[in-house]
Amino acid sequence: MTRLLILGADGFIGYHLISNILEDKIFDDYVIDGVDTNFQRLNKLKNNNRFNFFQYDIKKNQKNVDKLIEKADIIMPLVAIATPKIYVERPMDVFELDFEENLRIVKLCHDLNKRIIFPSTSEVYGKGKGPFEEDTTDLVYGPIQYSRWIYACSKQLLDRVIFALDQKRSFRFTLFRPFNWVGPYLDSLESSSEGSSRLITQLLNDAIIRKEITLVDGGHQKRCFTDVRDGIEALKLILLHEKISNKKIYNIGNPWNNLSVREVSDKVIYLLNKKSKINFLVSVSVKSSKEFYGAGYQDVSNRIPSINAIGNDLNWSPKYSFDQSLENILDNI
Ligand code: UGA
Repeated sequence: MTRLLILGADGFIGYHLISNILEDKIFDDYVIDGVDTNFQRLNKLKNNNRFNFFQYDIKKNQKNVDKLIEKADIIMPLVAIATPKIYVERPMDVFELDFEENLRIVKLCHDLNKRIIFPSTSEVYGKGKGPFEEDTTDLVYGPIQYSRWIYACSKQLLDRVIFALDQKRSFRFTLFRPFNWVGPYLDSLESSSEGSSRLITQLLNDAIIRKEITLVDGGHQKRCFTDVRDGIEALKLILLHEKISNKKIYNIGNPWNNLSVREVSDKVIYLLNKKSKINFLVSVSVKSSKEFYGAGYQDVSNRIPSINAIGNDLNWSPKYSFDQSLENILDNI
């Protein structure tokens, strides 16, 4: 039996990973302990005797969380604030949760000689020029006044701490860097009504409810959008192949889905019209990033991953086009 502990089980990645693993025969011997403050996405799971949910806050219930870490074979600490608007508005919350709380967990895993699969981020590459390679690309950020970079810095420092701990005494770890994973249930509807969710959720909410979408700085900036189903396949390969993935960093992204925000918004409007019986009239407005996010924001103009590392080691490559991802999101609204 393998006991997998997922902290942040009700988050976007946690939920998709758990529901997929529980239905995959290869993972029949896995028992999953999931920790979260919420049980919203997980509500969709059917009762399953290989999944145990614990309603703990990793900040407030440290002792209980530590007991679960002691019992686990593999730990995936997925708790983090991951929305740019919050990096700008509440940078200290980002530092305390994403860095400080995760540092405590990472150190405990190292002390107990546990295997950890840790989420780094595509944001660590910052403003550099892609395709980004895990082991050769420089990490480039803006000045300190731009608090947008506190997330990337926090994550980068944790990546470095994990390597430093391994240097001190061997650590069993794999770091993965998701590149704009998209799929159903990405952000909560609540956060999109406040204007603080990630692009796809924000565009859908704005198109359906407000009938007006906003292109920040004209929408020329590009991202490589990766279907969460591809992302989960990559994580499953990492889980199954400790030997080859040990002490590695993997970008998990789709270099072929490199689209500008404007192209994405056109596709959203087109598909909404195609799928609904009524004519969807959506106006498109342009706002400066200062107006939309606040003074502490800086953008990334393009973010293309190299996926050679995970391709060579685990024979993974993404399969879903952006249109297929969008269809799947709309089918699950
Ligand atoms: C995201 C988040 O930092 C993390 O979730 C994550 O680590 C990383 O990227 C990732 O998923 O790889 P970003 O891609 O900038 O960062 O986040 P989005 O909020 O999805 O924004 C994408 C682009 O759309 C930005 O240029 C933003 O300015 C623009 N945007 C967003 C709009 O033009 N209109 C909107 O209504 C919302």
